[in-house]
Amino acid sequence: MIPPEKVIIALDTSDARIANSLLNQLKDQRVWIKIGMELFYGAGPEIVRKAHHEGFKVFLDLKLHDIPNTVGQSLKALAKLPFDMINVHAAGGTDMMKRASEAMKSSYHPHLLIAVTQLTSTTSEQMNLEQKIPGELTLSVLHYAKLAKESGCDGVVSSPLEVKLIKSICGSDFLTVTPGIRPKNSGHQDQKRVTTPLEAFQLGTDYMVIGRPITEANNPKAALLEILRGE
Ligand code: C5P
Repeated sequence: MIPPEKVIIALDTSDARIANSLLNQLKDQRVWIKIGMELFYGAGPEIVRKAHHEGFKVFLDLKLHDIPNTVGQSLKALAKLPFDMINVHAAGGTDMMKRASEAMKSSYHPHLLIAVTQLTSTTSEQMNLEQKIPGELTLSVLHYAKLAKESGCDGVVSSPLEVKLIKSICGSDFLTVTPGIRPKNSGHQDQKRVTTPLEAFQLGTDYMVIGRPITEANNPKAALLEILRGE
């Protein structure tokens, strides 16, 4: 059995009505809700208040990436909203992550600050050829994880396949938030480095992010319960 508190459901829609309907269907399940760029830009900050009001913990997945001052000030502005976790791109650098961490620590409501390492849709080849970062993708993920920890972040977004290595280097209390989760019988779509929910749980992930396998199911609540049962 996977604890529901470990599951973050990605509400990837720009339509507030669809998001609200999913919030209704999933309430009382003690899962987290992830509000990403699509929904935040489409529905506005009100959807964060709504999810919080319905009793969900909220991961505001806005992946900030800009100069340190802009990221720090933007996070201070966002911190007025009732979310519980937010993220920045580690590629923005240690100064940027430090400013983000200071901004979160000075806010009234406690927020977890997570850094994005390499997107789970990125392959080694793409990283080598397009980002011009040589070597294995896992090395880049670990390098970013170390920088994130040194800069005061609470954890990183990574593939479940990297959880053990990240924890061996950054410590077991350094959080891992892992998208790229696909139940056995669902398609991978654009995700490249995937595991099943049960595998992610067994690999020690702190929070698994699951979107389309739940939100696009005919019965999202039934799909969630199946996942929690480890099926
Ligand atoms: O539908 P699916 O389960 O693929 O959704 C995964 C979610 O996690 C999406 O909202 C995607 O933006 C997000 N994400 C990701 N890889 C990262 C960071 C976030 O897939 N490295």
